Amino acid sequence: MQYRFLGRTGLKVSEICLGTQTFGWGADEATAHALADRFVAAGGNFFDTSNIYNQGQSELMLGSWLKKRGHRAQMVIATKVFFPTGDGPNDTGLSRKHIMEQIDASLRRLQTDYVDLYQTHCWDASTPLEETLRALDDLVRAGKVRYIGASNYTPSQLMRAIMLSAMHGWARFDCLQPEYSLLVRSTEWELLPLCRAEGIGVICWSPLAGGWLSGKYHRGAPPPPDSRVGRADRWDDLPEQRESERTWRIIDVLREVAAVRGKTPAQVALNWLLQQPGVTAPIIGARTLEQLEENLGSVGWALSAEELAQLDAASQIPLPSPYNFIARYTRKREA
Ligand SMILES: NC(=O)c1ccc[n+]([C@@H]2O[C@H](COP(=O)([O-])OP(=O)(O)OC[C@H]3O[C@@H](n4cnc5c(N)ncnc54)[C@H](OP(=O)(O)O)[C@@H]3O)[C@@H](O)[C@H]2O)c1
Repeated sequence: MQYRFLGRTGLKVSEICLGTQTFGWGADEATAHALADRFVAAGGNFFDTSNIYNQGQSELMLGSWLKKRGHRAQMVIATKVFFPTGDGPNDTGLSRKHIMEQIDASLRRLQTDYVDLYQTHCWDASTPLEETLRALDDLVRAGKVRYIGASNYTPSQLMRAIMLSAMHGWARFDCLQPEYSLLVRSTEWELLPLCRAEGIGVICWSPLAGGWLSGKYHRGAPPPPDSRVGRADRWDDLPEQRESERTWRIIDVLREVAAVRGKTPAQVALNWLLQQPGVTAPIIGARTLEQLEENLGSVGWALSAEELAQLDAASQIPLPSPYNFIARYTRKREA
């Protein structure tokens, strides 16, 4: 496992981040702890959770593991705030009140007195951005949070936040958590160039598109009953909506590249992400130790330029206006 700087910061994180959305859904506490142990044994130090994952179970399981292992200082823990935690009018969003309540609730569940990366889980159209940024800056100054990040922002929302923080001398977003995979490539139009230009780290959610890029789903065949698509108690991102001709085409090419290379489709899909300029780490999800083991095999080697081009050709989306116009007239610089 290699370590990369998180954007322009001095913080080093493993090139794979372990997502913990399965902790408390699919993975019980013993499995969650075994997953975390295996990840650390492979060199991982970077974990992503949220205050709302499985009604706090994910943070609780991560917290009990941190406490048991006694290595909190060596780990980089990221969590989030935004989505509803209750039915009250202030139990949601990025208001100063909700942020202040929720950081303390997360710290209690995680059994720690700081988080390394505190992320806004989604853009909040109902709260002034200044209110949110000022509250986050206060958390950094209070020592409850080391760095701040954003997830699910548009490029202009992220840029506004960066400018406002600079104007006021507040801590700024040093990390973006967008959805990004061979299936979802619109992230490349503006978000990645913006993050590269501003020195913002990028950690990608659903790097296997919720399991589709593992190659376990087949055209015309029912999904495996224990899979995210096959289970009756699936969470709410309706993974079957990812099915399309484009999806099957990408999976076909992924299988081809993997077979020739002697890797699995999941390892190829993750290695492709690791090689995209500006990406700091994919946030891998794993429900079982076998899945984690397989996904950890995505590091330590690199797809060739030809293999990358094959995957690019199968998955690229025609650029919409104005990106296509701009791309046509962009002058290439020598490296
Ligand atoms: N910021 C956000 O809005 C946001 C949204 C989503 C996720 N996230 C973060 O990103 C993390 C990863 O997201 P994700 O879980 O959707 O990632 P993913 O890697 O795209 O999907 C993971 C799922 O795919 C299946 N899988 C993984 N490896 C496999 C393998 N080798 N073979 C077969 N199946 C495999 C498992 O599901 P089954 O076995 O159950 O089918 C697993 O739970 C989350 O834990 C969370 O930290 C953030």
